[in-house]
Amino acid sequence: MSRVEIIRGDITQSRVDAIVNAANCSLLGGGGVDGAIHRAAGPELLAECRTLHGCETGKAKLTKGYRLPAKYVIHTPGPVWRGGGHGEEELLASCYRSCLTLASENGCKTVDFPSISTGVYHFPLEKAAKIAVSTIADYLDTHPELERVRMVCFDPRTEGFYREALERLA
Ligand code: AR6
Repeated sequence: MSRVEIIRGDITQSRVDAIVNAANCSLLGGGGVDGAIHRAAGPELLAECRTLHGCETGKAKLTKGYRLPAKYVIHTPGPVWRGGGHGEEELLASCYRSCLTLASENGCKTVDFPSISTGVYHFPLEKAAKIAVSTIADYLDTHPELERVRMVCFDPRTEGFYREALERLA
């Protein structure tokens, strides 16, 4: 059984140790999945985020989950797609690795990701899906403490690309 899974759903409903937030460098909220996570977690999340003083693209920072069913939120600013010549692919892989490393360090066994950078940041979905599933699979190979990592896809098109990327990996 693979420890990587693809599901369709709303990540604010995920009852896992940590959900990942596709944030921006301010960590002070925004639209898309970031807005949904802040709305569901309540104002205490923004209050904790204010103490973190932002985050660089490709890195990650952890907060509590407050009113979410998830115990923690791991915030990572993905790269804005600017044509592919600005290190976007490596930065996206770095987001997934940074989040998984923080999850391991904080004793998490189950982690759910949204599709980082493929919304308003316009990272091409097919490329993003391949980078996400291969980076997660590589990390899990050397980190048995993580029991399950899911990609939570908000729409069927996104789900299709992630399923295809995972099948190609097998
Ligand atoms: N659950 C799971 N996935 C979701 C949800 C949800 N509740 N809502 C949206 N998505 P985006 P980005 C999907 O734009 O491209 C914010 O303003 C969405 O359909 O949220 O990394 C931040 O503050 C898409 O597939 O994130 C940043 O400024 C995916 O999540 C900026 O957007 C990512 O879309 C980050 O842009």
